[in-house]
Amino acid sequence: ATKLIIDVDTGVDDSKALMLALSRSDVEILAITCVNGNVDIDNVCRNTLRVLKVCDRLDIPVYKGACRSMVGNRKRADAHGSDGQGDLMNPIPVDMSLIQSEHAVNAILRITDENPGEITLIALAPLTHIALALRLDPDFGGKLKEVFIMGGNIEGRGNINLGAEFNFYADPEAAYITLQELKCPVNLLSLEAAEANGQEWEWYDRWVNMDTKKSRFIKAFSSKTSHYCKTLIKHPKYSPYDLLTMATAIDQTVITESVEKWCTVEIGGGHTRGQLVIDWAGKMGNKPNVKIIKKVNTDKAKSYFMSMVM
Ligand code: BDR
Ligand code: CA
Repeated sequence: ATKLIIDVDTGVDDSKALMLALSRSDVEILAITCVNGNVDIDNVCRNTLRVLKVCDRLDIPVYKGACRSMVGNRKRADAHGSDGQGDLMNPIPVDMSLIQSEHAVNAILRITDENPGEITLIALAPLTHIALALRLDPDFGGKLKEVFIMGGNIEGRGNINLGAEFNFYADPEAAYITLQELKCPVNLLSLEAAEANGQEWEWYDRWVNMDTKKSRFIKAFSSKTSHYCKTLIKHPKYSPYDLLTMATAIDQTVITESVEKWCTVEIGGGHTRGQLVIDWAGKMGNKPNVKIIKKVNTDKAKSYFMSMVM
């Protein structure tokens, strides 16, 4: 089984991505590490425990990590509700003492040291933990098998400010350090790739209306966000940001087209702070450091999404 560490800011999208990983017998989740992002760190931890409780997997260790980004105070993602799970009408009570006492970044480093070359790190949130891990251990990247990141945008259209995708916007310095210094295979699912490879809303409605406990849970915590995406900002499809990233990490045959380029992140800028910068023409003469996922097998992805709610 593939050994995973999953870094999250749970989060409506993160909740679904976790549910997909939890549904798979071909992965072993060694840790879920919680970072500040969509909501504050305590809500991230609480929401993560709720997902584990609904999926009967409270045996998986959850670690609390960074409570803010490297530089500055960043705007949060309003679409997830004030609690990060759509302000659930009947919030599922969880025991916060289940959170491990070890700091998330220490846990990431320790588990990676214990499993050299074996860990796939899936980062679905601001990249604060990867940057901190690199400051504690510059060789950290060399000990990982590979990394999957949901983040960055290609066309320069932001989903939080004018120019940047939320996870990169929320900690631009950490995204910059990650791309420049991690030095292991990095797979990236951008904002646009998640949107271009989304699901029809009719399919989404069927998915959240299945008569199962997990479908009902997804429907409850997603209804605010899906209303926002479908009706208010009129996304033509459901965009499975974190969920699709998880699917590509679990089964790489889901990826049908990708391109390798040297990438960095704008850490100056005004409107463009946090924007992914791609050297399309190879002007810098640097070796590619990111595999940019462009197309996926959406039928395969859909079949995984459907089986995770059963
Ligand atoms: C990303 O930002 C967050 O709001 C989501 O959880 C996802 O990881 C999409 O830009
Ligand atoms: Ca997320």
